[in-house]
Amino acid sequence: LSNDKFVQGLPKIELHVHIEGTMTPELRWYLSQRHGIPLRAGSDQIPLFSEEEVRQAYKNIRGRIGAASAEGRKCFTFFEIYYGGFDLLQCEEDFFLLAVCYFERAADMNVRYCEPFFDPQGHTRRGIPFEVIMKGFKRASELAERKLNVKSKWIMCILRDSPVEDAMPTYEAMLPYRDVIVGIGLDSDELDRPPSLFHEVFKRARDDGFKITSHCDFNQKNTHEHIRQVVEELSGNGADRIDHGMNAADRPELMETIREKDIGLTLSPCGYVRHSSEEEVFSRIRKLFDAGIKITIASDDPAYMEDNWVLHALYLVKEKCNFSNSELVQLQKNAVSICWADEDFKDSFS
Ligand code: ADE
Ligand code: ZN
Repeated sequence: LSNDKFVQGLPKIELHVHIEGTMTPELRWYLSQRHGIPLRAGSDQIPLFSEEEVRQAYKNIRGRIGAASAEGRKCFTFFEIYYGGFDLLQCEEDFFLLAVCYFERAADMNVRYCEPFFDPQGHTRRGIPFEVIMKGFKRASELAERKLNVKSKWIMCILRDSPVEDAMPTYEAMLPYRDVIVGIGLDSDELDRPPSLFHEVFKRARDDGFKITSHCDFNQKNTHEHIRQVVEELSGNGADRIDHGMNAADRPELMETIREKDIGLTLSPCGYVRHSSEEEVFSRIRKLFDAGIKITIASDDPAYMEDNWVLHALYLVKEKCNFSNSELVQLQKNAVSICWADEDFKDSFS
């Protein structure tokens, strides 16, 4: 399947990818050399001395997303490795490079439109001005559209494990750059951080005309209640999309609300199978799809998920959910329907 020509050639839309989650070992090593920043990993701050050691550290990510601590000195939680990569992004050129590297890969996979997430609080708290981040991303988006035939709009995520009081100032700091930002999301460690904590900022964002989404990761504590809050309450009358939201498949009433409100789900199967059985994962994806819920398939944090990009995620569901080629086309049609591109682009996408 790994050279499935149909999947390769399919024009794609990717709606769930964290730009900071696309930082490959090569890029991490390059940035560390460029800025003279020594690389360290994990709570023990183990030094990494080569690109190969970075690659090994990525391979040794252990534990569920949000797991409290890594087992053993050479293993790291996802969030330790992920946020460790932020420190290397120092100037506009770095944000530009990170995004361009993703867009180039997207072009190779025939991704024609994407809505990457970014986590500004992880940068502004290190003293990086918002302007530096946004100028880099904007320039990358312009280049990708002009040279790579990849269109993009950005989604700013609020870090749910940061203090709630930081959410509104972060939102307001983003407003001068809203020409490239289409939506507001909620990510990072979900444990005991329900979406309801962030009603105020999402209500404001909705009133200001932004689209709304929130992570409800697979098999998290209180996942059904978190999904319920997102579909019924977030921003007043519920969000436009859920990132993950797979556990809705366990509750007919959640599935019904999602279908009635035409809420899209962005699923990233390569992440789920690292922590859950294939049966648990693919039966739910099938069930949601067969119920007519608008699911789409994406990569999430491809650099940290054994280098599995959206193409691999599609190979995986084709094989494990037994999706036919016309069903794979339907997945892309779902993405067209739930994405936040301009209507002209949506009409022209085939
Ligand atoms: N931020 C980046 N990747 C994430 C993920 N997979 N889940 C929650 N927050 C994230
Ligand atoms: Zn995600």
